[in-house]
Amino acid sequence: MSENSTVTWPQRSVVSDADGYHFPDGFFWGGATASNQCEGAWDKDGKGESCADHFTSGTKDEPRRFTGEFDPTAKYPSHDAIDHYDRYEEDIRLFAEMGFKMYRMSINWTRIFPNGDDEKPNQAGLDHYRKVFELCHEFGIEPLVTMSHYEFPYALSLKWNGWEDRRTIDCFVRFTTTIMREYKDLVKYWLTFNEINTPLMGGGPTFSLGMLPETEELRFGKGDALHGEEATRIVNGIHHQFLASARTVLEGRKINPEFKFGCMIASNVVYPYSCKPEDVMVAWDIQQRTNYYCGDVMVRGEYAPFTERYLRELGATLSIEPGDLELLREGTVDFYSLSYYMSGCGTADKAVLNANRSVFSTAKNPYLKASEWGWQIDPEGLRYYLDETYGRYKVPLMVVENGLGAMDKVEDGTVHDGYRVDYLREHIKAIVRAMDDGADVLGYLMWGCIDIVSASTGEMRKRYGFVYVDKDDEGNGTLARLRKDSFWWYQRLIASNGSSLEE
Ligand code: BG6
Repeated sequence: MSENSTVTWPQRSVVSDADGYHFPDGFFWGGATASNQCEGAWDKDGKGESCADHFTSGTKDEPRRFTGEFDPTAKYPSHDAIDHYDRYEEDIRLFAEMGFKMYRMSINWTRIFPNGDDEKPNQAGLDHYRKVFELCHEFGIEPLVTMSHYEFPYALSLKWNGWEDRRTIDCFVRFTTTIMREYKDLVKYWLTFNEINTPLMGGGPTFSLGMLPETEELRFGKGDALHGEEATRIVNGIHHQFLASARTVLEGRKINPEFKFGCMIASNVVYPYSCKPEDVMVAWDIQQRTNYYCGDVMVRGEYAPFTERYLRELGATLSIEPGDLELLREGTVDFYSLSYYMSGCGTADKAVLNANRSVFSTAKNPYLKASEWGWQIDPEGLRYYLDETYGRYKVPLMVVENGLGAMDKVEDGTVHDGYRVDYLREHIKAIVRAMDDGADVLGYLMWGCIDIVSASTGEMRKRYGFVYVDKDDEGNGTLARLRKDSFWWYQRLIASNGSSLEE
């Protein structure tokens, strides 16, 4: 653009000068959690069992197990978690002390409809979240609510194998219309499904689709092995979620036209392992089918052009009924939200892949370092993803998950987590670069703003928080909350609206 241009761009941008960065007014700084990972109180006040309540704890090397019957010798970390259910007041006060503008949390479906298909909602569950939202507003914190974050009612898994069955759509829409009506004056921003695309990356069909697993062990990284009947179940399950999301959006607009809806996609940044055209195409293809397969339906309202070829390769049959495609076209979202933790490499050479496996069917990048859990740290990948996504969809983006899972040590009553600050700073700088490239980014919500149970391993010691929670993997600890060094860094960052980023 020429220097003399008089065009004023309506989108948000970050100005940087001698005083540092200046983020746009109203930029949503904050943090994120999910109820099954923080609330505990898994059977309190009428709550029903969710699939998450059936996952045992694991470790980096020892997969979590899903057991239908509870195993008396195993630990089920969602049952107690960090007791956010009873301590939400203390926790939200800490978020307010950091200056949060937005808090992303999920409403656990089984607190409202314990079996998923109950006639009437559970009043105690409704009352609980009302108190949480009212407190957020007292502190000027805007809630962002995930309607489904791995909290599928176990009773519906037994009855219909989760999202495999279309009847689940009606149950979900009953749940979402109930909460949208109930909180229409307290919640404006909604995400229908957390990381809707993870089953295509190899996330397993139980977490997000509520499907009963064939084996007890929760294993990640089988995205490239997805095929046949399992693939058919998964693509139809996701199709049913697309329909449920579209109906929720349409119902929500009737309830409060001010509502804003987002999709939530786990960003899968995949570079070619080498410049061999075959590697380039593998990397390209993984990104198409894991990012755009879902993004296109939820934002553009139609399946991506490559879908037919992809389904053929999967050996999967997608059952589309009359009216489905029209509904998807009508119920598109207003913004695109994403989680971002790492990148990987695509290779056509199976030997290279198997010798260097990273997470989710990709090979390790020799140029990147990794977290203690092997997630490769790549801030530039976030810029790449934001730019690619904004270029494709031209709707506002929101980073609703990003952070570093690390083994923290308490010293002098706190945690000196400069490594976490470095991680966050570099990722936020990547967002600044993306905004400079023209991407419209609404906010940044750090994942696991208080230490919570890890989703993939069920551990407590994989900690993300600005706030340390005194609890170990054996369940010992006082549950006391401690402010880590990063707490004060984030507080300064928010108070300066980003200008203290380099500190
Ligand atoms: C995302 C999920 O995949 O990653 C969260 O939406 C999860 O629920 C987060 O906690 C980090 O993963 P983990 O396994 O380190 O907790």
